[in-house]
Amino acid sequence: MDRKEFFKVMTGGLTTTCVACMMAACSKDGTTPANPSGPTPNPTPGNNALLTVNLANQMLSVNDFVAGGGVIVIRIAAGNAVTSFTAFSSVCPHAGSTVVFQPQTQNFNCPAHNSNFNISGAVTGGPAGSGLTKKTVEISGTTLTVK
Ligand code: FES
Repeated sequence: MDRKEFFKVMTGGLTTTCVACMMAACSKDGTTPANPSGPTPNPTPGNNALLTVNLANQMLSVNDFVAGGGVIVIRIAAGNAVTSFTAFSSVCPHAGSTVVFQPQTQNFNCPAHNSNFNISGAVTGGPAGSGLTKKTVEISGTTLTVK
């Protein structure tokens, strides 16, 4: 096969492949993903948990806390009732840095510009003009979920 024939064969094959790809991408049956290499869809739609804690072995004492997923959850009382815990976004309302919980004083501090917040999330000092955003705590068995 000479160069001209080779190119003709290659172009014809490529055209066939591209048409097949375009037809698959335009499929209206909803079974062909537009981007098969894209992110995997959430396998449990409706589960918008930001943080999950196993109360069987975590947060056993008052002032124990867990931070992650952009939130902080703190045990404020004994027992495993929803009211035994409080949770907030860990994003500082001043400029978006991450606040740190200080169990010794039950305060949150933002190390960026030194805003402080009490255990209710209210501002007690610093440049922040509003408090921390409260998050919802749910408990099922020994699983605590922050949403
Ligand atoms: S970002 Fe937290 S005090 Fe400025």
